[in-house]
Amino acid sequence: MKVYGINGSPRKNKNTATLLQKALDGVKESAKDKEIEIEIINLYDLNYTGCKSCFACKRLGSKSYGKCAVKDDLQEVLEKVSQADGLIFSSPVYFSNVTGQLLSFLERLLFPYLVYDNNGTSLAPKRMPTAFIYTMNVKEELMKQIGYLKTFERMEFNIGHIFTKPLVMYSNNTYQFDDYSKYKVESFSEEEKAEYRKIQFPLDCQKAFEIGVNLIKN
Ligand SMILES: Cc1cc2nc3c(=O)[nH]c(=O)nc-3n(C[C@H](O)[C@H](O)[C@H](O)COP(=O)(O)O)c2cc1C
Repeated sequence: MKVYGINGSPRKNKNTATLLQKALDGVKESAKDKEIEIEIINLYDLNYTGCKSCFACKRLGSKSYGKCAVKDDLQEVLEKVSQADGLIFSSPVYFSNVTGQLLSFLERLLFPYLVYDNNGTSLAPKRMPTAFIYTMNVKEELMKQIGYLKTFERMEFNIGHIFTKPLVMYSNNTYQFDDYSKYKVESFSEEEKAEYRKIQFPLDCQKAFEIGVNLIKN
């Protein structure tokens, strides 16, 4: 069995990547005696674009029907990810959405499997369990108030339609800099952030771990 963690953050050891690793640790833990391999795909290491709207994936008789025809670093990744036994997506929130890199990846992953028929049939070869981890600067109350969840839920719906509905977690009020004194940051109190992180981040790590434990049920 193989589970992939998709890191939609440019940073490989900060909030998003740490929680993603915890979730994958949870997957390993749940696997117990089953053979399970995990792999992180760092999207920012890859050279690719979003969907180019070539529609080769929808063209009748095309050898790319149901597949992305764009030739770049994602070609091989999309192939292996489609055979996964579990997928965990993770992203920081940039301007109220997932990062551009993750959005481009999702366009390329999901769109070729969506049939333009009346049911929006999914051509995905496997309907593997999925999860989504979001990290962001805003606190939970503000995240809800300003409508982030609506945006997130739309993409979760698309993932659910093509694969399966994701398990979801949010990590709020994240610590952005190692040393706040080196940056111009007047709108947050470092003291408050540090205190919150000390208490909340270990709980978020635990939540991520549990998402991993619960990802694969049998
Ligand atoms: C370009 C950019 C845009 C951001 N936009 C938002 C935003 O709209 N809302 C928010 O809550 N945080 C925003 N943030 C903060 C990040 O989402 C947050 O610090 C996140 O936890 C960083 O994840 P990382 O540590 O894995 O890089 C933004 C950060 C950057 C660099």
